[in-house]
Amino acid sequence: MSRSGKNPDKRVRSAKKRTQSSTLWLQRQLNDPYVKQAKADGYRSRAAYKLIELDEKFKVLKGIQRVVDLGIAPGGWSQVVRKVAPKAAIVGIDLLEVEPIDGVTIFQMDFIDDDAPAALENALDGPPDLVMSDMAANTVGHKQTDHLRTMGLVEAGAWFAVETLSEGGTYIAKVLAGGTDRELLDLLKKHFKTVKHAKPPASRKGSSEWYVVAQGFKGRD
Ligand SMILES: C[S@@+](CC[C@H](N)C(=O)[O-])C[C@H]1O[C@@H](n2cnc3c(N)ncnc32)[C@H](O)[C@@H]1O
Repeated sequence: MSRSGKNPDKRVRSAKKRTQSSTLWLQRQLNDPYVKQAKADGYRSRAAYKLIELDEKFKVLKGIQRVVDLGIAPGGWSQVVRKVAPKAAIVGIDLLEVEPIDGVTIFQMDFIDDDAPAALENALDGPPDLVMSDMAANTVGHKQTDHLRTMGLVEAGAWFAVETLSEGGTYIAKVLAGGTDRELLDLLKKHFKTVKHAKPPASRKGSSEWYVVAQGFKGRD
């Protein structure tokens, strides 16, 4: 999507109490073509376009029947799945409350909880063929800590995928710049036929996020 140059960028008057970073965030939201498009298309988040673009490139939604959406809130990715594969069963999890989405089972809980994997598995009537994670840990501002926390979620998602996916299945996860850690990459390469990294155009250029796309799950021995 290209930025239309018709209207000059909207400026946000800096309210006294608003911090400079939240003013910049608001300004960026108001001028972001993906935010506008999401409103027009009825998606709850601009993140929806990241999945749409990953699907354009890797066909991750082709023929899917059962999907697990890790970090579902507010629900953009699941809305996309509903549109592309209306018959697919979807279960999602998030720390935050999520407005119900027709046809989607949603758990408000921490994916790291011991009970979470079983709850997700039991909500589907068979093994998922797509596990997708857009989870990101709340940042504390310390680069290494933030990286480790988010990569911990990616790794937990990868183990969940390896333990639950049906043969041929796909695991997608948001990762941070620097890519996927060696150990995790080895795990994915061992269990999937292809492992690629991509930064969809909808992912903000300045952000350090990328996505790892592991396809062709080889199955459990
Ligand atoms: C970028 S948002 C997901 C956006 C979503 N893909 C969409 O399209 O609307 C990341 C989400 O991950 C969730 N999250 C982070 N850590 C989590 C955890 N341990 N368990 C469950 N959800 C988590 C956050 O609460 C947040 O809502």
